[in-house]
Amino acid sequence: MKTVAILGSKGGCGKSTLSSFLAHGMSSGVEEATGKKIWTILLRTDNRTKKATDLIDKRKFYLASVPGNDSDEEYIMQVVEMSNQIPGSFLVVDGGANRRVYDFAACHIADLILLPTGSSEEDVETAQSDYEELSEYIETNGLKTEIYIVRHKWPGVQSKLDFIMKTPWAQKYVKKWTKAGILFPYIIPDMPSFLYLNNGNDPKSTLLLNKLSTKFAQVIGMKVGIDLGTDEGGGEDGSASASAGEAASHPAMADVQPPTVAEEPRKVA
Ligand SMILES: Nc1ncnc2c1ncn2[C@@H]1O[C@H](COP(=O)(O)OP(=O)(O)OP(=O)(O)O)[C@@H](O)[C@H]1O
Ligand SMILES: [Mg+2]
Repeated sequence: MKTVAILGSKGGCGKSTLSSFLAHGMSSGVEEATGKKIWTILLRTDNRTKKATDLIDKRKFYLASVPGNDSDEEYIMQVVEMSNQIPGSFLVVDGGANRRVYDFAACHIADLILLPTGSSEEDVETAQSDYEELSEYIETNGLKTEIYIVRHKWPGVQSKLDFIMKTPWAQKYVKKWTKAGILFPYIIPDMPSFLYLNNGNDPKSTLLLNKLSTKFAQVIGMKVGIDLGTDEGGGEDGSASASAGEAASHPAMADVQPPTVAEEPRKVA
């Protein structure tokens, strides 16, 4: 089992949406692109979102939510153990805002932590302080967890993105994070269709979301050591193409290789 925890102390920075996006890409997207079935479980530790724990036909991953009481920790460990018993499974942990105790616990179970950050100065500064606090915890406790910062909900329109990229704070942090090798190579765009994907009871998707989430899952999969395929190029919109260009020169993308043995695509019931 591989585990990715999506954390961040700022409310609304996109943890839950990015969690659904990754779980969606890792389950249906990867299967469609490579024929490889990755059993994906999305665990919501934000107890405001009490949703069904099930696998529904519109969503090809399991969804689990903590009960929101003293048994949360026990419940999380049960889900981790259950996931661990599924060979080659993939667990996504969606964190809550300002819940450092959970964040620290996630450092112990996650192979990779993603810190989504929005496109304001306050957003990137919060991501930086989250990064510092979590990496200090990881180091102090001798853990192996890696951290990636993901620019999530950044403008999908090139001119708006260029405007942000010219600000002193964006330049400072993008440069710093790139140099440290902790910046996820793609920008995940701000798109209204993300709202549908995040709807737990009736998730919907679009072709572009499918494509972007598959690519995202493939890069994350490679990063944590899951053997997955890859497709070439970026999405259909300007931002995705621009970030694909940017990604091509990024070391993380250089590792992305097509699978050597393609499995027969399985039929989805
Ligand atoms: N890429 C995106 N494009 C458009 N809207 C987005 C995107 N990502 C997130 N949103 C919207 O932003 C809002 C906050 O996102 P989300 O709930 O994922 O944040 P969160 O970090 O989980 O918040 P909380 O800390 O409250 O749990 C939601 O309304 C969501 O639909
Ligand atoms: Mg959330």
